[in-house]
Amino acid sequence: MQVPFLDLAAAHKGVRNDILAAWARLVDAGRFVGGEEVDAFEREFAAQCGARHCVAVGSGTDALRFILLGMGIMPGDDVVTTPMTFIATAEAITQAGARPVFVDVHPVTRNMNPEHLEAAITPRTRCILPVHLYGQPADMRGILDVAERRGIPVVEDAAQAHLARFEGRMAGTIGHAGAFSFYPGKNLGACGEAGAVVTDDRELAATVRALRDHGQMKKHLHVVEGYNGRCDAMQAAALRVKLPGLAGANARRAEYAALYSALLAGVPGLQVPEVLPDRESAWHLYCVLVEQRGAVAEALRREGIGTAVHYPVPLHLLAPYAFLDHMRGDFPVAEHVADHALSLPLYPELGEERVRHVATVLRRVMTKG
Ligand SMILES: Cc1ncc(COP(=O)(O)O)c(C=O)c1O
Repeated sequence: MQVPFLDLAAAHKGVRNDILAAWARLVDAGRFVGGEEVDAFEREFAAQCGARHCVAVGSGTDALRFILLGMGIMPGDDVVTTPMTFIATAEAITQAGARPVFVDVHPVTRNMNPEHLEAAITPRTRCILPVHLYGQPADMRGILDVAERRGIPVVEDAAQAHLARFEGRMAGTIGHAGAFSFYPGKNLGACGEAGAVVTDDRELAATVRALRDHGQMKKHLHVVEGYNGRCDAMQAAALRVKLPGLAGANARRAEYAALYSALLAGVPGLQVPEVLPDRESAWHLYCVLVEQRGAVAEALRREGIGTAVHYPVPLHLLAPYAFLDHMRGDFPVAEHVADHALSLPLYPELGEERVRHVATVLRRVMTKG
């Protein structure tokens, strides 16, 4: 049985005709940038998240960058984040002119560990940027405790956490602003690149709107120098078709994740992911920690099972961040995750039979040693 790591063709079977019909309307109308589809998607996504404002942008990276720039982050500032994330989180920080400051992650959630947060804060710290990795929200209570005491705003990287919740509150709406990615493989994926900012701060939303459109508040009124970072109408239309199915798709992910965890319990040399009781994961990824990752991945590949690694090198050890002068050992939990993480196939179309098959093969591979 072949089990690809991701199957975007399967994901689009049910929505294909509606997306093509929406695109045909746009082509016939000649509307490609901005317009009613983008406005409507912003309203609908804001409503889903329970946020006052949503601004659709070109990507999740744009969303992060525009939030930071919109909050006035600039050279000389520090932004605290985690080294166990996709590089885009740190790119947004440096591209806003600031310096990323890393804190290690929690061994269970693999998200920013608030215990280390206080020590990372200096008078230069202008923002705390937790990442809801794999779809599980970071410990927002612990992070907000520190942030509020020190008077520092929190921005959430919710790129992997559409509709996830912490203590009942929606990821992306707990801090000052949240950034989402709609990269095709995400829980809510566009048919190309897109992202969004959600926030209750009207002024920040207005600034992000200007930043995404060359700094224009309206045609030819450039109040700042901005970017070409708009979400196009074709992506907004595809996202509107898919949005109503997001909660149901997340529920199927959660079901398959629970089944994996039940089937993989007690396998020697393997640690299943755990979601703490005060939060609901969006289950973007099902990421186990395994000994001998390379050999295990190869054995699965030989049996037709695709896997991936999120992420093999923590950011503090990547070449672009050598200027921060970190070394191996600085963030031991993140390094342990980077050395052992293995993501198994997880998507709404996966089906119980394939989950059982992957778990059976993985158990066999691990038990053989
Ligand atoms: C944690 C995280 N942050 C930011 C991004 C950037 O999003 P995008 O690829 O849409 O720019 C991604 C996804 O790629 C991500 O996984």
